[in-house]
Amino acid sequence: MRGFELRSARFLASDCLQRYLKPGDTAVDATMGNGYDTLMLCELVGDEGHVYAFDVQQQALENTKKLLTESGCIGRAQLILDGHEHMCSYVSENTVDAVVFNLGWLPGSDKSVRTHWETTKQAVLQALEILKPGGICVICVYPGHDEGAEELAKLTEMLADLPPQRFNVLRQTFINASPGSPECFIAQKQ
Ligand SMILES: C[S@@+](CC[C@H](N)C(=O)[O-])C[C@H]1O[C@@H](n2cnc3c(N)ncnc32)[C@H](O)[C@@H]1O
Repeated sequence: MRGFELRSARFLASDCLQRYLKPGDTAVDATMGNGYDTLMLCELVGDEGHVYAFDVQQQALENTKKLLTESGCIGRAQLILDGHEHMCSYVSENTVDAVVFNLGWLPGSDKSVRTHWETTKQAVLQALEILKPGGICVICVYPGHDEGAEELAKLTEMLADLPPQRFNVLRQTFINASPGSPECFIAQKQ
């Protein structure tokens, strides 16, 4: 393998974060879940960096705390039991290098606790504000169910309206994939 694969929305999201983030950076995981993205961010920012991670479920915090502790990364992360729509209360404007969203529900748990467009919208707008110039916001969306399809449609509309003087926005879609396949958006602040 040459280090680049056209494989999945998740793969492209993590490939982009791995290329962008450097030791000492600050990152936000807006949807902590089981902590796999939080761990990746902690590894990329290193000992001098910092990661804020949000989730509304206590179980997500516990799973992530265990994963980060076992990996020796817990000191790099601040795990926050609160909705990502309150991100601005914890993180200042223009201070963050990357924000990641992995929308939907926690795999293997109650599907009713999932992201919803009303709060996703507020959170993505705040994420764009907290980014430093050049910083990136990476969002994976799962339109294979009704709420996910709504998130995809409204997110597309909102991101397409961002002024190009402030943000460049890329939508990655596998055009020969089955309907409902995940998609990835990357917004970079100018
Ligand atoms: C697809 S999972 C995230 C998976 C995670 N990135 C990982 O690596 O395991 C989506 C998560 O978003 C969380 N969530 C739902 N609404 C939220 C909100 N308003 N703020 C923060 N997290 C939320 C859910 O509890 C769930 O854990």
